[in-house]
Amino acid sequence: MLTLGIETSCDDTAAAVVLNGNQVLSSVVQNQDDLHSPFGGIVPEMASRRHLEVMDSVVRRAMEASTASLEEIGLISVTAGPGLVGSLLVGLSYAKGLSYATGLPLVPVDHIQAHMMTLDLAGGTPLPGVFLVSSGGHTTLYHLDTGGDPIVLGTTLDDAAGEALDKAAKMLGLGYPGGPAIESAAAGGDPSALKLPRPLSGKDTLDFSFSGLKTSLFTWLRREGYFDQTLAGRRLPLSIADLAASYQQAVVDSLIERCLMALRHTGASNLVIVGGVARNALLREQAAAKAVEAGVEVHIPPPQLCTDNAAMIAALGYRQRERAMVDPLEINVYSTKALRSEFKAPTWKAAGISASRSAKKSAKKSGGN
Ligand code: KG4
Ligand code: ZN
Repeated sequence: MLTLGIETSCDDTAAAVVLNGNQVLSSVVQNQDDLHSPFGGIVPEMASRRHLEVMDSVVRRAMEASTASLEEIGLISVTAGPGLVGSLLVGLSYAKGLSYATGLPLVPVDHIQAHMMTLDLAGGTPLPGVFLVSSGGHTTLYHLDTGGDPIVLGTTLDDAAGEALDKAAKMLGLGYPGGPAIESAAAGGDPSALKLPRPLSGKDTLDFSFSGLKTSLFTWLRREGYFDQTLAGRRLPLSIADLAASYQQAVVDSLIERCLMALRHTGASNLVIVGGVARNALLREQAAAKAVEAGVEVHIPPPQLCTDNAAMIAALGYRQRERAMVDPLEINVYSTKALRSEFKAPTWKAAGISASRSAKKSAKKSGGN
């Protein structure tokens, strides 16, 4: 069966055609980096307006690249949340219109859950396992049982890892999105040049925190007169490469430490890292190296499937095709709330290690692993 996926939850307009939930025939992603770059972050109203302008052409390009005709499509899958409501509404309204006009079933899917199932498109999603979703809006550790039902092990108490990278890039004048900007600026830099904190390191929790890290960089830059116009032109004692490398290392260390703790405490032997930050080469390399030491397997999707795309939306829609709505016009978007009652992510928040044990207990009670 061919599934047409549509994704507009944030600042990427994406459409894809996927065969049998695992073979990408086409995947078109039109980003809005040019639009938001001057602001160092996403301007929601501008994002939804741009989605509206390009939605139809993105879908047409995905259909053309797949060489399939609309008559051959069997299912439409669309992101219903979480995300920016205005942006989500553009994709959902387009999908509803297409479904209404063609009679095709429409299935609404959860963006975070779609990230977690990305490996369906690259050899299969290993279950059970610990899943780290690290993106611009989320940094959350889940345990997924053999059926794929997620339980939250820990989440960020403040900024997401991607957000922390985006904000640091903004401070350093490196542009948006900050993750790739920091990564390329860090090339050749010394990751130990600036001593930065690893918030919550060594603490008995599977939660994350990145705001202290961001503040440390800000405080250091301010102390060195970086924001003082009268000192403009004064050289910093460390290069931008050293600062970017030190900051990137601190983010990567924090993510990996928590993943290893989660693996130890759940006894899982698979670690899956998804979301935009999983594109980061240092994270990919160091997670793989640490996993070998810990005797577990790390699975990270190919870089182009880590950032937002509609192929993952089509893949999850195919998995959940029995949920296709009889009346697609009844579907609505949601900004933070989970769509599926069994998708416990935003409602069940773990308070650390003890919570991971209670997660195990509740999984046992409900018959899971
Ligand atoms: O998953 P995603 O495309 O969108 C959200 O759902 O948020 O993730 C976007 C985030 C941004 O914060 C971006 O800076 C970060 O992923 N990112 C990276 C890299 N590429 C994108 N972070 C680190 N290294 C990268 N190469
Ligand atoms: Zn995402």
